[in-house]
Amino acid sequence: MLEIRNLTTEPEATEGVDPRTIEFGRDNSPNFFVMDYSDGQWRNARIEPVQPFVLHPAANVLHYAQTIFEGLKAYRQPSGSIALFRPNLNAARFHRSARRMSIPAVEEGAFLDAVSALVTNERNLVPPEPGCLYVRPSIIGVEPSVGLKSSNAFTFFILTYPSGPYFGHAGEGAGSIDVLVSTSVTRACQGGMGNVKAGANYAGTLAILERAKELGCAQVLFLDAVGHRGVEEMGGMNLIFLQNGALRTPPLSETILDGVTRDSVLAIAEDFGLGVEEEFISIDELVAGLRDGSVTEAIACGTAAVTTGIKTFRFEDGSVVPVGTVCPGPVTSQLYERLVGIQYGLLPDPHGWVHPVV
Ligand code: COI
Repeated sequence: MLEIRNLTTEPEATEGVDPRTIEFGRDNSPNFFVMDYSDGQWRNARIEPVQPFVLHPAANVLHYAQTIFEGLKAYRQPSGSIALFRPNLNAARFHRSARRMSIPAVEEGAFLDAVSALVTNERNLVPPEPGCLYVRPSIIGVEPSVGLKSSNAFTFFILTYPSGPYFGHAGEGAGSIDVLVSTSVTRACQGGMGNVKAGANYAGTLAILERAKELGCAQVLFLDAVGHRGVEEMGGMNLIFLQNGALRTPPLSETILDGVTRDSVLAIAEDFGLGVEEEFISIDELVAGLRDGSVTEAIACGTAAVTTGIKTFRFEDGSVVPVGTVCPGPVTSQLYERLVGIQYGLLPDPHGWVHPVV
């Protein structure tokens, strides 16, 4: 059990805030978890009021982006208790990300202890459905040196955010968005770190994401770095679509993040008796399927996004290909209802995904 000093008082509940009106990621809760790494070990775990870090301008993270993060959510249950959703998968992925980025790993048990202790402390700020407390663990390299080497000092911290739906404009339920297909920018290559939750992966997608937003698209679909044809993921979320009644998605690889929501949606689809196919899908095949009507739904799925219907794919040449006739489609909505029903403790949890913390 990780020993954690608590230097805070529990925040009071804020009444009457509609989670739908909260801008995602803007306002953190008042307290955070912090732990330092020096002289070869993690030490001094504590929960304290959020305050700015004092970083030397040469801190490794500021120059070489030696940083990783995670994203998971805590949900208010009908009894008023609070539960995390599959946090063991985040703990394991954080561990894998640390190894790839030459960051000293936090033991999975310590990660879970830290997340649970902070969520317990901030429990009064977990909004009711459709809100939740978004949890953002992160590690940064803080050694002040511009020599290109792994930092010898790190800070592990966890922030939490009372949140509503990620795509505020996407509508009620699963919601719907438009997506830009990028043929000019790739996100990840074999041997790279596309399957790692490293800040730099996300920074590399921001320019094209801003361009997408100018075109009215909320996300960018990236293709593979070799042939520029294989459908991969959308930077902040995975892509699944429904073709001839089965869910199809590209298989996990070094270039695709192993999404917790992706995994959960595929498991729920199997519970529904839907076929699930994880295989290479080219953009030409996707467009052909959309045009001949065999692809009827496309789903963006991620912790922040949950499952969101994709209404259209826009290409950089200006052409737009619609997805099906209704968005979100019926299967997207059924998957969404089952997933959030489990997360909020409103439906049975046959897979044992819900992890009560307090
Ligand atoms: C998450 O879904 O938790 C992520 O980290 C994606 C980010 C775009 C918010």
